[in-house]
Amino acid sequence: METKHKVIFGNCMSMIELADNAVNLIVTSPPYFNAPFDYKGLFKNYGQYLNVLKKMAKEAYRVLQGGRIFVLNIDDMLVDGQKYPIIADSIKIFQNVGFRYRDEIVWKKPD
Ligand SMILES: C[S@@+](CC[C@H](N)C(=O)[O-])C[C@H]1O[C@@H](n2cnc3c(N)ncnc32)[C@H](O)[C@@H]1O
Repeated sequence: METKHKVIFGNCMSMIELADNAVNLIVTSPPYFNAPFDYKGLFKNYGQYLNVLKKMAKEAYRVLQGGRIFVLNIDDMLVDGQKYPIIADSIKIFQNVGFRYRDEIVWKKPD
């Protein structure tokens, strides 16, 4: 079967290129909270970081077809001796925009 592919250089917080229910699967590895310098102006603190995830989750819920899956590759982060509960906060954020929590997969990288 022939498939078509289109690469869009866009913003996950405002996916204006995509219609509602246009997507079958989303897999993403969002920016790391401990590396704000890699994403100039995206977030200055944890609240702003969670707000980025919130906007992405809301847009993802709009563009994903009902019953489809969003795979979020994310982990808790230790910054200046403080552990940020990014996994727990993301699950809540995604649930609050309408997603159901399905499962956690632990990715054990080689030592
Ligand atoms: C942790 S990296 C993941 C990289 C990816 N796994 C790869 O192999 O290219 C986070 C990515 O999010 C992108 N990014 C940052 N802000 C974004 C936004 N508003 N919309 C979409 N992507 C964004 C960054 O450019 C970066 O490539």
